[in-house]
Amino acid sequence: MDLAQLKAKLAPLGQAAALRFADSLDPAGKQKLTAQLAALDLDKLPTLIDENVRRKPHVPLPTDIKPVKAYPYRPTEELKDLYDRALVRGHDLLKQGKVGAFLVAGGQGTRLGYDGPKGEFPVTPIKNKPLFQVFAEQLLAHSRDAGKPIPWYIMTSEVNDAPTRAFFEEHRYFNYNPANIFFFQQGMLPAFDMATGEMLLSEKDSLALSPDGHGGSLRAIDKSGALADMKKRGVEHLSYFQVDNPLVHAIDPLFLGLHDLTDSEMSSKTIAKAHALEKVGNFVVGDNVLQVIEYSDLPDSLARQVGPDGQPLFNAGSIAIHALRVSFIERLNHGGQLKLPWHRAEKKVPYVDAAGNEVKPDKPNAVKLEQFVFDAIPLAKNAIVYTTRREEEFSPVKNAQGDDSPATCRRDQVRRAADWLEIAGVKVHRASAAEPAAVLEISPLFATSAQQLKSRNIPFKEIKPNETIYFDESGPVRLP
Ligand code: UD1
Repeated sequence: MDLAQLKAKLAPLGQAAALRFADSLDPAGKQKLTAQLAALDLDKLPTLIDENVRRKPHVPLPTDIKPVKAYPYRPTEELKDLYDRALVRGHDLLKQGKVGAFLVAGGQGTRLGYDGPKGEFPVTPIKNKPLFQVFAEQLLAHSRDAGKPIPWYIMTSEVNDAPTRAFFEEHRYFNYNPANIFFFQQGMLPAFDMATGEMLLSEKDSLALSPDGHGGSLRAIDKSGALADMKKRGVEHLSYFQVDNPLVHAIDPLFLGLHDLTDSEMSSKTIAKAHALEKVGNFVVGDNVLQVIEYSDLPDSLARQVGPDGQPLFNAGSIAIHALRVSFIERLNHGGQLKLPWHRAEKKVPYVDAAGNEVKPDKPNAVKLEQFVFDAIPLAKNAIVYTTRREEEFSPVKNAQGDDSPATCRRDQVRRAADWLEIAGVKVHRASAAEPAAVLEISPLFATSAQQLKSRNIPFKEIKPNETIYFDESGPVRLP
């Protein structure tokens, strides 16, 4: 669409203001703004704004909210056979090349305060490997073990796409075959003026855009051609994870096998919450449907409820790890309509006003809208939840300091390495009950799990206090 066509289109939608400076822009500015506008689903704007900006969307909580029954970490006697079969199935899926990895990395990472794609952030305790490298090494290890490449789909957004690609290139894709990496961008949405519903301009030639939420990944997969690529390669399942958590098992054969054997279209991992009001989503069964209720939406009274055994009833935290069937994503996009709800956030968004002045608001002036991937769970057939352990799989880097910070994440990586070593028969001296007295880092190329570490040759039986040991692909290296 050219400028004239856009003007004709936007005026009746009440959005002419977006082009108020267009005539005075240079050709590059005109081109930029028209491209941004043309990328939006303009016909849907009035309804979107009406339902989510002018009005606050009313998403009623289910009337009947029950705790979810999740598959346990270790199988009960009754489940043992299923888990045994699931592990075999998971490995078979990998050997048959039916599993793709799906990393969502389109967010802005504002809380961490790191200026660049979050995946670049140096995160490991000894080698300072960036998050992207940790995932790459895990996927390489699983590909090697399965004898089949794992196609890796990485979702970025306009804010970080170019630097993300450049970072991979600069690091020679961390030895991944670039032919098996598929970068694609999620959609962007403008911030809307809270009072008028008009799209805000961040500059005269630019809308105030931000990514449309990780739920947008399910649309972007289709639009970008990633879905077609999966089908061409015979990928049937995606292992979905977020960029901020290096402890994630980016590929978990047992989880994938359970997901497949139970005919689940979308499966999720849960951990016991650290405390009732921990800021994670909550898996619940609401009006008989499995779903996630964000911490901000779950009434405190429910969050604090305890069962007859004194344990919290609503204790199933969401750590944003999922397995998704490719056929499910295809079904969700049928007819070009991804029907996930929009979540509204009121924010302070700097903008250019009608007179062309830059305004930095000191109170929320705008509405941003996002879709969340876990809102697809209620739409999935046979959705299951599997329990994992926080120590094993969850320590995200979200904040610069305090909880979920680089410091806690490094600490938890060392703790997990020590736990794995103990399982593998190596004694690790502790400074306190939880804290290993040594600094330890295990490359996923050496072991992706405690089980695998057990099968490796470790030429010592004890790690003394104050040692620094890095386990690279070929074994332990003591560092000064
Ligand atoms: C999220 C979940 C929360 C869960 C927690 C676990 C939401 C709303 N909440 O919280 O239920 O318990 O993780 O760590 O998601 N991303 C995109 N595009 C976007 C927005 C985000 O790709 O438009 C990606 C980010 O790059 C990141 C992930 O999604 O990998 C999580 O985003 P973030 O906004 O940090 O989620 P949280 O609020 O921490």
